[in-house]
Amino acid sequence: MRTIIANWKMQLTVSEAEALARSLAESLPKSKRDSRVVVCPSFPALVPVKAALGESGILLGAQDVCEQEKGAWTGEVSARELVDIGTQAVIIGHSERRSAAKETDELVNAKVKRALAAKLLPVVCVGESREEREKGRRDTVVEKQVRAAFFGVDLPRKSEVVVAYEPTWAIGTGQAVDPEDAARSHFVIRETLRDLYSQETADRSCSIIYGGSVDRANIDAFFQRSIIEGVLVGGASLQAKEFLAIVDAAERAAQAPRQG
Ligand code: PGA
Repeated sequence: MRTIIANWKMQLTVSEAEALARSLAESLPKSKRDSRVVVCPSFPALVPVKAALGESGILLGAQDVCEQEKGAWTGEVSARELVDIGTQAVIIGHSERRSAAKETDELVNAKVKRALAAKLLPVVCVGESREEREKGRRDTVVEKQVRAAFFGVDLPRKSEVVVAYEPTWAIGTGQAVDPEDAARSHFVIRETLRDLYSQETADRSCSIIYGGSVDRANIDAFFQRSIIEGVLVGGASLQAKEFLAIVDAAERAAQAPRQG
């Protein structure tokens, strides 16, 4: 089963988010799907989007969560609140938060622990900058971020995490990573998780997805590689037609033999 996550960032008003969610729910009846679809609106849109998703089986995700449980944290949103309104997943450590909000590996780690404790599915973003890639440090950076994000994180039998490989230079630029190249980073992430946990635990509890300029034109090449278990989509998730084409590609790929 592939995981397709829409990250709507701060691109829509609440009513636009609601309308988009309604249109996805109408077009993606649960019974027909072989993939897991998650939409992540901004905080004020979570409740109306949840209602608009209705019984479609599309999951609701937030774009961030506070690492603290509760208390005097002005401007923050807790995992308890997210769960209370029916949120099922949360993006953690997106590169836009790592850079703009100066989120550190330690903070990402605390947020992963908080999300898991609240039974939210963490979608943990990792990925190198262009400069790091040019210096040949891609694998080292990605491995370090994964190790830091999961430091001291327990993954008991029913727990699940998603790691999104999102090189910062590929996000919102129209320059997706070559799928073969992305597969290499997925391999590094998979091996790191197997080393941190056991192979059995890592393979049971962790999926690895790709994000960065995914669209309907390049999606098939990503889904041809079995090591790429889904995608995190920004720009191309803002229009129902574009996003549905990506979900369709996942459905097609589920029927086709895989390689790599
Ligand atoms: P993009 O964004 O698809 O617009 O590149 C992906 C992301 O930021 O998660």
